[in-house]
Amino acid sequence: MSDCFIGLMSGTSTDGVDAALLEFTSVARLLSTHFLPYPQTVRKGLLDFAGGKYAGDAIDQLGALDNALGELFAEAALAVLAKTRLSRTDIGAIGSHGQTVRHRPAGQYPFTLQIADPNVIAARTGIATVADFRRRDVALGGQGAPLVPAFHNAMFADHKEARVVVNIGGIANVTLLPTERGRVSGFDTGPGNLLMDAWSRAYLQQSHDENGAFAASGTVNAALLQALLADEYFQRRPPKSTGREHFGEVWLAEKLRGRNLAPADVMATLCELTAYSIANAIASHAPHAARVLLCGGGAHNAHLLKRLAADLPQRIITTTEDFGIHPDWVEAAAFAWLARETLAGRPGNLPAVTGARRPAVLGAIYSA
Ligand SMILES: Nc1ncnc2c1ncn2[C@@H]1O[C@H](COP(=O)(O)OP(=O)(O)O)[C@@H](O)[C@H]1O
Ligand SMILES: [Mg+2]
Repeated sequence: MSDCFIGLMSGTSTDGVDAALLEFTSVARLLSTHFLPYPQTVRKGLLDFAGGKYAGDAIDQLGALDNALGELFAEAALAVLAKTRLSRTDIGAIGSHGQTVRHRPAGQYPFTLQIADPNVIAARTGIATVADFRRRDVALGGQGAPLVPAFHNAMFADHKEARVVVNIGGIANVTLLPTERGRVSGFDTGPGNLLMDAWSRAYLQQSHDENGAFAASGTVNAALLQALLADEYFQRRPPKSTGREHFGEVWLAEKLRGRNLAPADVMATLCELTAYSIANAIASHAPHAARVLLCGGGAHNAHLLKRLAADLPQRIITTTEDFGIHPDWVEAAAFAWLARETLAGRPGNLPAVTGARRPAVLGAIYSA
């Protein structure tokens, strides 16, 4: 089997498709990368969908988005391949996370749903595609998330130094990597960028607060921060995972009701919420971790990094780049790796992380 795999990822930020092509030998090597931003119409469709705003029939909308995203994911895969000298027959498989449109792992009928039709991806690229990674874990009583910790463990663990990997996407998640044979754990800490992005769309007419400049211009409002942190999710014990369903615009609007705050102060407070909730999760679950490795788009937010460093004294804070993978591509790389595990018949979930009853081979294989 080929050692080269393509990973395709789009997270809760709904910014676009990250594509990463890796070669897995004794080490993992990132051969090429490509980011395909979502066209405005697709992004708006997804955000409307998340907010329960359907232009007509919801099933029609879902079907159309599934197809449109399948085409975009295929385009991203072909683009990342075209940046190399490889051809499609050199690729073992594509691992496609797809786009989450609902994540409800608790309740009487737990489910999580990722779209971007893998049939379209396999047909357009001529490459076997592994997709639908999360639902087997949910079927086994797990959260179906996060799934990146097994990859973080394979890539970034050190037997002498306890580490934490922090992925700051729309939602933020941590992977706690102990030394020696300690048990790897991990969970979603809460909002990463998605509330800051929502506030940015509302007040700056921009997709995000570039480098956290707007947040840096404001002052944290202690009463609002306390109200945000009072959400029971932050106190809940892992395994836990969350999404836009919980920490969305409705949640934020409710917390802001009756408060008359300067927009910059709200942004500063949302940024602090992300920093503090991550730092607090690390302090309570990995008190001895010496090093924190950041990845995800939030690693570009200079103000957020400054606040994280302040909330996490006495730890070395770096990015995953120091350990071989640039922070923008860790999640896509994880799905390339997970596809490889699936083809090899190895489990990809960590029950200690997701809460599933047992490890399982994840996803379904759509042949070339
Ligand atoms: N220069 C930057 N300054 C501030 N935030 C940034 C910057 N670059 C990226 N981001 C944030 O990162 C997000 C994308 O991160 P990503 O890891 O792709 O998240 P997801 O996995 O949820 O798609 C953007 O929505 C934005 O909030
Ligand atoms: Mg993204």
